[in-house]
Parts: sequence; structure tokens; C-alpha cells
Amino acid sequence: MMSEITVTINNKLVGPIEVDSNVMMIEFLHEYLNMTGTKFGCGEGICHACVVIVDNDDGTSSTVRTCISGAHAFNNFSIRTIEGHAKLNAVGEIIQLSPVQESFIKHFAFQCGWCTSGFTNETTVLIEKLKKQPIKKEDVESVISSSLGEHVCRCTGYVKYYQAVKELILNTEGLTT
Ligand code: FES
Ligand code: FES
Repeated sequence: MMSEITVTINNKLVGPIEVDSNVMMIEFLHEYLNMTGTKFGCGEGICHACVVIVDNDDGTSSTVRTCISGAHAFNNFSIRTIEGHAKLNAVGEIIQLSPVQESFIKHFAFQCGWCTSGFTNETTVLIEKLKKQPIKKEDVESVISSSLGEHVCRCTGYVKYYQAVKELILNTEGLTT
């Protein structure tokens, strides 16, 4: 059954667009909007490659798997995708990556990059959370593990991802006490 959805994506209002009720969010992003940065991995809700950030009205944010969530579940939601992390100039060229992206590049954290948009979104949510709720330095590794632990990297780049996140947290003022 077709019905309209409207979603704010990376601060831009998209829609209303007619979408069939059985279209998953990742298909909506790829096929309706040509936004292919969100990656389809397992398609079964396991690998978390496909997560986007949902910004809630109460100021909190969380990641949601788009391979197992219908596009209509995001109607009237505000989300962020990997395309929204870097700063762009007026003609759409990247002029500044986000601190998370910079840290992943600095540490050579990814290889094929299929999991990277998911790791970037999850880490961004974690950093934003720590800005509001700093943690003790000695808890950094356990917090990273519990926050990123569900993300699968088929190239097994976990050590470098985790190192990149650890350094970013420890070197960003206000995230640790
Ligand atoms: S592609 Fe969505 S969880 Fe793996
Ligand atoms: S870098 Fe290839 S799946 Fe993670």
C-alpha cells in the first residue's frame, strides 16, 4: 500500500514522497533519494553497518538499523546519515570532515569501508552522549566496547577503530573526568 512519508535528513526536509509500505529505510535512502552512503551488510539486523542516527525531540540521539526498519517508521523523524557528517561548501564540496571521520582516517581504521558509515554514526552518538555525561578515563575502553560492540567489520579492523575512538575521547575536552 502506498502512502506519503516526510523525513528530515541531515537538516533538510525530504518529502512528502509516496512510498510502498514494505519498503525498508535503506531502500528508501538508496532507491528514492540516491543516498548510498548507508551500507547494506547482512540485511538481518546483525552487523549494524546500516545504522543511521535518529535525533529525538528530547535532545537525545540513537542509532537505528535501516535494513530491518520500514521507511514509514521514520515518518516525521529527524535523522542523520553519513552524508551529513562533513561540512560542505556552497557547491557541495567537502571542506571539513567531522572529528570522528578525521580520527578514523588518521588511524587507518577501515579497509574496504563497508562498515564505516555505521561505525561513524555510532561513534558520533557516543561522543555526543559523553559531552552531556562525561566518563572516568579508566572506563573509556569498556564504554567503547559496549557502544560499538554490535558493529561487525568483515575486514576485522576492530583494533584500529577502537584505538581511534579511544584517542578521540581522551583528547576531546569535556568527555572524561
Ligand atoms: S545490514 Fe542492517 S544490520 Fe546488517
Ligand atoms: S573495513 Fe571492511 S567491513 Fe569494515
